[in-house]
Amino acid sequence: MAAIIVHGGAGAVDDERRAACVAGCEAAARAGWARLEAGGSALDAVELAVRALEDDPEFNAGYGAVLNRDGVVEVDACVMVGERPAPRIGAVGAVPWLRHPVTLARRILEDGEHVLLVAEGALAFAREQGIVAESAATMVSPRARARFERHEGETARRMRTGDTVGACAIGADGRVAAATSTGGIPWKRPGRVGDTPLAGAGTWAEAGVGAASATGHGESIIRALMARVAIDRLRGGDAPDDAARAAVAELVRVGGDGGIILVGSDGRIGHHTSTSRMPWASVVDGARASGAEPRSGSDEPRS
Ligand code: GLY
Repeated sequence: MAAIIVHGGAGAVDDERRAACVAGCEAAARAGWARLEAGGSALDAVELAVRALEDDPEFNAGYGAVLNRDGVVEVDACVMVGERPAPRIGAVGAVPWLRHPVTLARRILEDGEHVLLVAEGALAFAREQGIVAESAATMVSPRARARFERHEGETARRMRTGDTVGACAIGADGRVAAATSTGGIPWKRPGRVGDTPLAGAGTWAEAGVGAASATGHGESIIRALMARVAIDRLRGGDAPDDAARAAVAELVRVGGDGGIILVGSDGRIGHHTSTSRMPWASVVDGARASGAEPRSGSDEPRS
């Protein structure tokens, strides 16, 4: 069985943006699924899905990512593949003006020397790989500019906002992978790194168990080790939805808000959020579904 699930970030997605966010997730899930159907790996699928979300200005990742308090886009991303005896991981943090940090994270995973590169060092590695940084002219969406200009309100909302994007997939070979990408939180200090690139916090994948991608208030997700909590629950026998609920409960217990998506090594998916909405979409063995409310809310089966 092959499957993919993606999210567009936990938060207070208002009614005007809901349809566009769900549509963006559906397009990303379809892109990832097409790769799985063509025999691609789970890693290929999650990278492709997250690149689609990074190109979509509705989301806080790649083009459309929030600005830090110096007016700079600094992005974080991580990719993981569940392998034995240990997962393979590539991650980047606080990299300025990068449109597709998920691809730089993948190059780090494939290079294998390091797990996490940040800031100028990550940019130097990107240049070696032929990946070039962009600029405000091509990276700042009108929505991100508006959020920057009304930063006081955004700062007050930060504990509850996300818009981080992510994907989890299982390929026909049974391998699981996860990818997460974000601009972080609005009005963050330069150099701030959130949960997204930290293995076990925002992202985790474990062979024979499953893969998880989290979204929400990064400092709290790090304190909760949220993705690892979800995968530990899966390993202990929880269904993916129950594992997602347990991870969200742990996040709330430490004082944060957010959500998580999961794929189990049996191909089942799960998701949950403590926020009013978290746009998501999935394709499981060809069957599509999507929605934005927590699991008990109004999912929209599409086939
Ligand atoms: N969860 C994204 C961040 O806080 O950086």
